[in-house]
Amino acid sequence: MNGAAVIRKANFIGGRWKSSFFHYELKNPYDLSTIAEIPLSTPEEMEEAIAEAEQAYALVKTLSSHERSSILYRAAQLLEERAEDFARTISLEAAKPIKTARMEVTRSIQTFLFAAEEAKRMYGESIPMDAAKGGEGKIAFTVREPIGVIGAITPFNFPLNLVAHKVAPAIASGNTIVLKPAEQTPLTSFKLAELLRDAGLPDGALNVVAGDGPTLGPVLLADERVKKISFTGSPEVGKLIRSQSGLKKITLELGSNSALIIDEQADLDKAVPKALTGAFTYAGQVCIHTQRIYVHEAIYDAFVERFVEAAKTLIVGAPSDEQTDVSAVVNQRSLQRITAWLDEARQSGATFLAGGEANGQVIPPTILTDVNESEKVVCQEVFGPVVIINRVGSVEEAVRLTNQSRYGLNAGIFTTNLDAAFRAAQGLHVGQVMINEIPTFRADHMPYGGVKDSGIGKEGIRYAISEMTEEKLIVIQL
Ligand code: SIN
Repeated sequence: MNGAAVIRKANFIGGRWKSSFFHYELKNPYDLSTIAEIPLSTPEEMEEAIAEAEQAYALVKTLSSHERSSILYRAAQLLEERAEDFARTISLEAAKPIKTARMEVTRSIQTFLFAAEEAKRMYGESIPMDAAKGGEGKIAFTVREPIGVIGAITPFNFPLNLVAHKVAPAIASGNTIVLKPAEQTPLTSFKLAELLRDAGLPDGALNVVAGDGPTLGPVLLADERVKKISFTGSPEVGKLIRSQSGLKKITLELGSNSALIIDEQADLDKAVPKALTGAFTYAGQVCIHTQRIYVHEAIYDAFVERFVEAAKTLIVGAPSDEQTDVSAVVNQRSLQRITAWLDEARQSGATFLAGGEANGQVIPPTILTDVNESEKVVCQEVFGPVVIINRVGSVEEAVRLTNQSRYGLNAGIFTTNLDAAFRAAQGLHVGQVMINEIPTFRADHMPYGGVKDSGIGKEGIRYAISEMTEEKLIVIQL
């Protein structure tokens, strides 16, 4: 039980806690104990939240930039004060090792600080109207305006920071939000709602409605009062959202099977520990998890030997344990899918250098070589502690294999050869390329978003604000 009492949670709607009639049991993914009862909200409860968000928008859009900024600064400060409580909640509901959960909280503080800063920088631009015949004597400029109610649907893997990436820019730009958190990790969102209320966010500006995605998502999509959907999750759901969102704005942050290229001139002292983090942090349940490593044949054996040795030092255990590096995957469905894909790879001749056998809901760090590119563990998003290391003859071959994916989020290359680095950067068809860094790297202010099945639009506070606002042109005839 990790010391937590089973409590019945309520939704946060219009600045108040509102109990629901139906509930589901939230389980700790590591020991499967019940940690809370969570609202299994109805479409009517979602509609009530939308109505509250729309009503609050009338007030929120009149707040000045400095008032919105102050709320976000205060939120960052409160998060710093409550950091350990947030980290423990994340760790409990997501089975995220406590030291990794603390890192998520630290990042989230920065996310709120970036939003506080960007709230004051929503610049427009001046347009030289006399560039066109007939435009003489006119002054024109653009302003960015909020759009209204934003529907945010968030995943389980970063219960705080990926929620912050939607909520903080929405507040910075004067919008209101209805948040549907992941079924597996709603507690952190409820805590965040409480924190933002304490930071001075007006009632109704953030509403949290928990429950089942297929029941609640369509309500957000169909409601004309919701002007934008911001979703992080699977491509399958992303495509459904796109087809049902009409003319709403949408941002979709979807999956990936990110690749890391190790060139023959890579510095292995730097590459090996970073690749290890990329492969196994939060048991690979990260959209930019380092899933595929393509290593130049000249250093393949040396890299594999060092990588496998390093992986043996990782500590597998309870998420609450200070030493743990890798813990449980989020649920039985995940466990079964990953182990089925591993079995298929085994049957088709892949070599397992480590791991492969689950213990309870924990899959230990699993390293595969000689894997056929058509295996699901290579070409689909594994979202588990599994890494494929395949041999290549050149950077070009690695780039070609990387691009063969349906996804295109992040990719990385380790090399001390500038020419090889640039050839890779130019050739990789992804949203972000990391040179001498793993694809799993992300800073919270950088533009972040994918191509192909990895999504549409960018997050990263300034970029999210741009997607959460409309540009209006004002022309003055002198
Ligand atoms: C993600 O998993 O979508 C985000 C990864 C990150 O923010 O580090």
